[in-house]
Amino acid sequence: MSRQTIATINLDAVTSNLIALQGYAKQSKTVAVIKANAYGNGAVKIAQHIQAHCDMFAVAILQEALELRASGITLPILVLQGPHESPEVAHTLEQNLHWMIHNHTQLGFLDALSSTEASLDGRLWFKFDSGMHRLGFALDSFAKLVDDYPQYFTPNTVIATHLACADEANSEHAQSQIDAFLKCAQTSGFALSIANSAGTIAHKDARQDFNRIGIAMYGSSPFSVQAPANQALVLKPVMHLQAKIIALRTIPKGDTVGYGATWKAPRQSTIATVAIGYADGYPRHAPTGTPAMCNGHRIALVGRVSMDMITFDVTDLQNVEVGDNVELWGDTLSINDVAEHIGTIGYELMTRLSSRVKRRYFCAAGNDNSPL
Ligand SMILES: Cc1ncc(COP(=O)(O)O)c(C=O)c1O
Repeated sequence: MSRQTIATINLDAVTSNLIALQGYAKQSKTVAVIKANAYGNGAVKIAQHIQAHCDMFAVAILQEALELRASGITLPILVLQGPHESPEVAHTLEQNLHWMIHNHTQLGFLDALSSTEASLDGRLWFKFDSGMHRLGFALDSFAKLVDDYPQYFTPNTVIATHLACADEANSEHAQSQIDAFLKCAQTSGFALSIANSAGTIAHKDARQDFNRIGIAMYGSSPFSVQAPANQALVLKPVMHLQAKIIALRTIPKGDTVGYGATWKAPRQSTIATVAIGYADGYPRHAPTGTPAMCNGHRIALVGRVSMDMITFDVTDLQNVEVGDNVELWGDTLSINDVAEHIGTIGYELMTRLSSRVKRRYFCAAGNDNSPL
């Protein structure tokens, strides 16, 4: 039997989380963000499962959009970084793509295409920088851009921005971005898009014509600390990561575990070696004390994460055996809890999971374990 290091993806939980998010903004359309292989959960499987529940998909780059098309996904796809090179826009019509345009270089790519091909009407989003200072046209160039490019700014164009601090409840920064963006674009007549998951949940004014939902759909809270007090946020975990104990040993007090001998047993200890490591995407910098679950009990990582293995102190567990499952995160241990111990976020833990970890898909209509 092969190594049983498996991420089980609960597809019903994805749909349920998406519907819960849509409840915050019933008037908005939903862009389901499935970039980075649907945050590690498997873009094609997620897209197939939720396509009836959203209006369009978003990915970061063209390659991700083409992979979805090759798998038969037909819903419109928004490419969030826009075209990186001029030839990319040639795929627009044939692949039914929408582009987020964020700079003048990309406008040049559009010009080259629209001089030879059909109209891009209804396929363009324009990103404006309302304060994140990463991508987007300056807000004060809005009126001039609209004047200069009437062929691209039509009643079907979407004007978008992205919030830097939506994940902090009552963030003044988020509110100032929303205010600046709305002041500029609200009366323009164009469709608007501001909110990501956190924006949709916690920032009423960010709920506009299109909300771009990512992390919450995958069951990880978008909030850095905890959900805003007034939000009864119930997200269902989507990814359940488990690996098996492949060795058990008892070591005397004072002996050390793993590379660098960084952890010294404070008492005689039972050490479980578990079949997952940094080559699987479990972060190497996860410190001693990072939690996992085994046989209903919380256990703590000890020593350094190796490429293919990690070690846990299971001294206090009864009846632990080689072959027992350890849940690294999932139903009984939230991914955000683990992320906090590691000094990262749920987004990173999910997206880093490598292709070596088998994905297994679960839904009420029947399990689907066909390869991606
Ligand atoms: C432009 C843009 N919109 C929306 C999202 C979705 O954000 P979240 O996963 O926080 O919902 C992302 C994700 O990084 C993004 O880059």
